[in-house]
Amino acid sequence: MSKPLVSTVPTHVAIIMDGNGRWAAMRGLPRTMGHRKGVEAVREAVRTAGDLGIPYLTLYAFSSENWSRPQDEVSDLMGLLKVFIRRDLAELHRSNVRIRVIGDRVNLRGDILPLLLEAEETTAANTGTTLCIAFNYGARDEITRAVRALAQDVADGRVTPDDITPAAISRRLDTADIPDPDLVLRTSGEERLSNFLLWQAAYAELIFVPEFWPDFDSAVFQRALDIYARRERRFGGVAAPASRAVGGA
Ligand code: FPP
Repeated sequence: MSKPLVSTVPTHVAIIMDGNGRWAAMRGLPRTMGHRKGVEAVREAVRTAGDLGIPYLTLYAFSSENWSRPQDEVSDLMGLLKVFIRRDLAELHRSNVRIRVIGDRVNLRGDILPLLLEAEETTAANTGTTLCIAFNYGARDEITRAVRALAQDVADGRVTPDDITPAAISRRLDTADIPDPDLVLRTSGEERLSNFLLWQAAYAELIFVPEFWPDFDSAVFQRALDIYARRERRFGGVAAPASRAVGGA
């Protein structure tokens, strides 16, 4: 692949993969086909992140709210994730990809949890892109679990209320060992966060692209990164004088 056009490669890109259903509907196909094509887009996104040297790529694969979808669609999404791990794990491992999974693991049934754990264990020592799969993930649930853990620590006398800081909360999130996302990207033209990384995305740049997820390829990814590279990040401070935009917010 050719050299990246952007000079500012984000450390962590987090993606809300949206529009599988609409992609399928536009073609008169069942929603399942959109999800299937979506897995191909996942493969390409992981490859592109590796080619561009993006250290962390988080994909919102299944939210804690997605259980409310029709049972056959839920089964299909589970099946696709399992097939992805079974078929692609060896190749991802060869490509030096490290897999991490975030989300609530406690109530997962069947063979999904062992597969996710196997993927994490097999690739734990890899040093390439970390592919973080958000599965059974919801930010409010994640923050609630972190706060519950802190409350337990206070109840057990391990920490005092004064020890409760943003850092103490971050350390108890599923992403404790993962840097906050620099860029949250959503496909399909919808412009919301849908309970994704609400704490971690406090200062993330948000980019919404019109393409449905199955059409997300390296060119769309690169275009989003070009937009990101032109953004000025202030983290609540003020702009550097040389690059300050007149009338900028
Ligand atoms: C949103 O499209 C997409 C999802 C809820 C699931 C995304 C899952 C995959 C791409 C496949 C499995 C993942 C991995 C990591 C292998 P939607 O169904 O909400 O689309 P719509 O808004 O057009 O209905």
